[in-house]
Amino acid sequence: MENMEVNARIITSMSQGFANTYLLYTACKLEIFDFIEQNINTVLELSKKLNVDGQILSKILRPLVAYDFLEKKDVEYQLTEKGKLLTGSSKNSLKGYVLYCGGICAKSWSMMAEAAKTKQIPYSLAMGAELFAENEKDEGHYFAFNNMMNFISERTSLSDFLCDLQDTNIKRIVDIGGGTGAVITQFLKYFHHATGTILDLEFVKEKALQNLKKNMVIDRCDFVPGDFFKSFSISGDIFILSRVLHDWNDEDSIKILRNIKANMTDNSVLYIIELVIPEEVKRENIDVYMNDLQIWAVCGGTERKLLEYYKLLHSAGLSYIDSKQIHSGESVIEARLDIKIEEGEI
Ligand SMILES: C[S@@+](CC[C@H](N)C(=O)[O-])C[C@H]1O[C@@H](n2cnc3c(N)ncnc32)[C@H](O)[C@@H]1O
Repeated sequence: MENMEVNARIITSMSQGFANTYLLYTACKLEIFDFIEQNINTVLELSKKLNVDGQILSKILRPLVAYDFLEKKDVEYQLTEKGKLLTGSSKNSLKGYVLYCGGICAKSWSMMAEAAKTKQIPYSLAMGAELFAENEKDEGHYFAFNNMMNFISERTSLSDFLCDLQDTNIKRIVDIGGGTGAVITQFLKYFHHATGTILDLEFVKEKALQNLKKNMVIDRCDFVPGDFFKSFSISGDIFILSRVLHDWNDEDSIKILRNIKANMTDNSVLYIIELVIPEEVKRENIDVYMNDLQIWAVCGGTERKLLEYYKLLHSAGLSYIDSKQIHSGESVIEARLDIKIEEGEI
């Protein structure tokens, strides 16, 4: 009976997970944190500004106080440290992250059962569109996506991996689908004398240049608008492919890899950065399994096992060399051009 109680609690609590997602989403969508920051901070002022009934507003504000996003002094609400992170103006703002989770992910996840049965992508069923195309069309959508992406990529801890690299001869670093440059920036800060190029879709350019400037690598890194499904010509000692392959099925992934391969020389190396699914299913790896579902839900992609990366590389004519797991959980998979064995060497 005791077990039944514990199990029932686990199930009811997991089933209520959406409530926290939507509490934060609603508060961010209504811009409650931003208005409080501007001292529009009583129920009366907020309800006028937002055109929301005061009683409903109080229902939203109460749990935000209880969760320590806001504090209430007399009739005025103030932001706590946590609440400040949900304003658009905060340096480390997570407002976009919250909008991405509530406005894009949660809606996609809600369509998973239908999508699985009809062999469609949950996001497409929910939104009637495609994630990357929508990023291009809708500024708010891209703001949310980009905020989430930067948050994750800035936490990809590459420092130990980079310190272990022996090659001091690196001059050119190319980040394919490099987004706004959170990953290439780490490489450029380690290889002080190298120059870099980000290849990504045209509409990403402006935010990428802003980010490179913020990180003081703008003088060493340019942005080339391009489509990684079409051939391109960029020379590089290091090619980076971070969290790109997991967005695509095997056929598309092989196309991307072949286009990179066409730019590689015997001395260049490709580093693929992805979460790798461990062979054995264990509770401690729950984040990887949930991320795998998340990638399928939003863009029909998939996380893969190491053997699957090995096979993808092989199909694209590249050789798997090594794989190292980094501190933040992702793996860096090293690939090079297929090693040709000369007749005399056999
Ligand atoms: C999941 S994000 C990864 C961004 C970055 N590599 C990182 O790890 O932070 C995928 C990136 O692929 C880019 N992308 C999607 N389709 C593309 C295409 N056809 N050609 C070039 N870039 C593309 C997106 O704009 C986005 O920046």
